[in-house]
Amino acid sequence: MSRTPQGQRAGLDKSPPEVAAMFDGVAARYDLTNTVLSFGQDRSWRRATRAALGLLPGERVLDVGAGTGVSTQELARSGAYAVGADLSQGMLHAGKRVRPEVPLLAGDALRLPFADASFDAVTISFALRNVNDPDAALRELARVTRPGGRLVVCEFSTPVNPAFRTVYLSYLMRSLPAVARTVSSNPDAYVYLAESIRAWPDQAALAARVGAAGWGRVAWRNLTGGVVALHRAVRT
Ligand SMILES: C[S@@+](CC[C@H](N)C(=O)[O-])C[C@H]1O[C@@H](n2cnc3c(N)ncnc32)[C@H](O)[C@@H]1O
Repeated sequence: MSRTPQGQRAGLDKSPPEVAAMFDGVAARYDLTNTVLSFGQDRSWRRATRAALGLLPGERVLDVGAGTGVSTQELARSGAYAVGADLSQGMLHAGKRVRPEVPLLAGDALRLPFADASFDAVTISFALRNVNDPDAALRELARVTRPGGRLVVCEFSTPVNPAFRTVYLSYLMRSLPAVARTVSSNPDAYVYLAESIRAWPDQAALAARVGAAGWGRVAWRNLTGGVVALHRAVRT
């Protein structure tokens, strides 16, 4: 764990207690910081995630790494029953304060507190990158999904246009931590954010890992030129 006078950030080994403590530190202003740093794009990314899941009223969908429940709340707009799980008590408490209607519970992506095949769909937004064993998390997501059920992973990815990629990486490594210093309750977490995005597999590499974890018909769609990618798959 790296500590500074402002706060703390996890290392790229992503030890679960460090990741949880880091998110506890950002929880108070998480939703606002997200919207500022993404220039408001986060809302359209969440809408696209809901659409990609193809949820039907009455279906059960699990949102892993739900944080403050901002992603879970969007899923519920489909009429499905959406429940969120997260490792960070701070994020869950912040979520329960601002979204008391969203069901949120404590749960680790690597040991979900649900029976086999209990969901029609599962999703994980901006959280798989923070799990210390993403392949095990993808297998655990498959375990709680019924055969034929759907997965959507919404995660930062690799912009496809080389010129845009250069500008984006410069924003990520220089401007984003500076802007976070003015908005976030734990600006150092946004240094981790930039580093962890840079170290994350690109679209094709993540698709291969999803396919190796018990999921079929893997495909992806780029959002905002590949700043974010939605990987979707079906439980085999
Ligand atoms: C960037 S936030 C994303 C929150 C929300 N899904 C969104 O779209 O804004 C990442 C979340 O993943 C959670 N997380 C990290 N590792 C986890 C794990 N192993 N199990 C469950 N949640 C985890 C963190 O506590 C944090 O709340």
